[in-house]
Amino acid sequence: MPPAVLTNADLSTFLDTSDEWIISRTGMKERRIAHVTALELSTVAASRALACAGLQATDVDLIIYGSCSNEEAVPNSASGVQAALGATHAASIDLNTACTSFLYGLATATAMIRTGMARNAVVIGVELISRYMDWSNRNVAVLFGDGAAAVVLQASDVESGLIGSVLGCDTEARASLRVRGVGCGYAGRGITLGDTTWDFDGPVIFKRAVRAMADASTKVMQQHGVTADDVDLVVPHQANLRIIEAVAKQAGVPMAKVMLTVEQYGNMSAATVPVALVEALETGRVKPGSLLLMPGFGGGLTWCSMLVRWGSRVTPLGSSDRALPPLTTTALDLVNSIRASQDPHGRSATGLQSPVFAEQHR
Ligand SMILES: CC(C)(COP(=O)(O)OP(=O)(O)OC[C@H]1O[C@@H](n2cnc3c(N)ncnc32)[C@H](O)[C@@H]1OP(=O)(O)O)[C@@H](O)C(=O)NCCC(=O)NCCS
Repeated sequence: MPPAVLTNADLSTFLDTSDEWIISRTGMKERRIAHVTALELSTVAASRALACAGLQATDVDLIIYGSCSNEEAVPNSASGVQAALGATHAASIDLNTACTSFLYGLATATAMIRTGMARNAVVIGVELISRYMDWSNRNVAVLFGDGAAAVVLQASDVESGLIGSVLGCDTEARASLRVRGVGCGYAGRGITLGDTTWDFDGPVIFKRAVRAMADASTKVMQQHGVTADDVDLVVPHQANLRIIEAVAKQAGVPMAKVMLTVEQYGNMSAATVPVALVEALETGRVKPGSLLLMPGFGGGLTWCSMLVRWGSRVTPLGSSDRALPPLTTTALDLVNSIRASQDPHGRSATGLQSPVFAEQHR
């Protein structure tokens, strides 16, 4: 996780909002702002995941970069992580289904392992939303944060890992979440990367997210002959505490069985579920053989729910000393630096050429 913490009080210094509103409507108190690139976050996460699995980078034959935060469209981001890791035998794929990108990456890597196309896969969930957030829009700016986490999947004769998945997309609400200003459709319109505004209909997404995640969870449990009682831990996408509570209620799982990170990290889009999974492991909430339920949704509106049977080991085989560079500024300064490159309508005149980040665009 990036170390710089942006509090609700920090947000109130430049937005018409309050700690009380944000906590009561979302459950969020803090989120992180990265002082490094998404590639650096991903590389640290992937290195640590490989060390936990006792693998060398050269053992990896598949890297999936699940994210909608890319440094560039070409070359892809997964290849940048591959180069930084020295994973010389890997294939590298970027996968973008917005907030569900990590979970869809898990499904994709699992399918590739089952069909023999890969044996050792690294699946990353990472997001650097602070760079293209419209910091003048309180409807969205208070909800998101940066982060990254990664897992290693390996071929096995034991039935563990991702044992069930239900995936879909509610395109009727496709227009309810859109980041304008990034993509080919904006070419020739005098808009450069960073000139972003967000279309965001929170209440519409809220209702559809609850229904889709609850229905997908019920369906995946039915498909695999398990009930809510069999589920040991729910590791859900965390866009809003109230959404999680509603999904848990509809799926019949008590909140005591739900892993929560929304209070301290907000919504990190694709990074949310893997970060929550790592924290669940590190706090002993994942036991050998645990049955995990992982519902998610995101722009599109993509949705899914996954069943994971954890393997027999919950302790890492090794550790990596790869770490982020030291933090020399505050989260609020980082955000103000991005804001300084945006005009009051969230449109950037100069891209991200502010001093704080210029070094990253080499
Ligand atoms: C966004 C969300 C938190 C808003 O909560 P809500 O319960 O739907 O909204 P409410 O009806 O309580 O409040 C809306 C009011 O709060 C105001 N408001 C919005 N953001 C605010 C903020 N940061 N601070 C203070 N007030 C805010 C709005 O302007 C609106 O005011 P109005 O009624 O005068 O027009 C909620 O809809 C949500 O979580 N949606 C889904 C999250 C999501 O889509 N995440 C991304 C996809 S993964």
